Amino acid sequence: MPAIKSINHVAVVVDDMEKSLAFWRDALGIELHELRNVPAEKSQVAFLPLAGAEVELVMPTTDDSGIAKYLAKRGPGMHHICLEVDDIEGMMSQLREKSIRLINEEPRISDDGKKYAFIHPESTGGVLVELYQISA
Ligand code: CO
Repeated sequence: MPAIKSINHVAVVVDDMEKSLAFWRDALGIELHELRNVPAEKSQVAFLPLAGAEVELVMPTTDDSGIAKYLAKRGPGMHHICLEVDDIEGMMSQLREKSIRLINEEPRISDDGKKYAFIHPESTGGVLVELYQISA
């Protein structure tokens, strides 16, 4: 049986990175580990690790990405929660068997080799859920 191991990160979509960092970094005091442009996702991402998990602030850098459209439609706020799983393919077939709607039919591979896939909010009570498999 595939198993969920942990909450890997929580992603928040932001329209103003500095304003957002003024809250998460400066007011809450969570250390900013990295602020990086991610051209593949047409966004700038701030990584704020916290006790084995991470808060990620995602700001679109173009108007035409999925996340830019999300921001235009819904405004800034919670975007997704990411769960680390030990066997992503196994978990995806388990979900399919339970008629859970997946956004990605196959896991995608990030630049650093992680496998990931999204579960449709329609099947989760309105929360976009990402699955991550870090090691093989
Ligand atoms: Co994510």
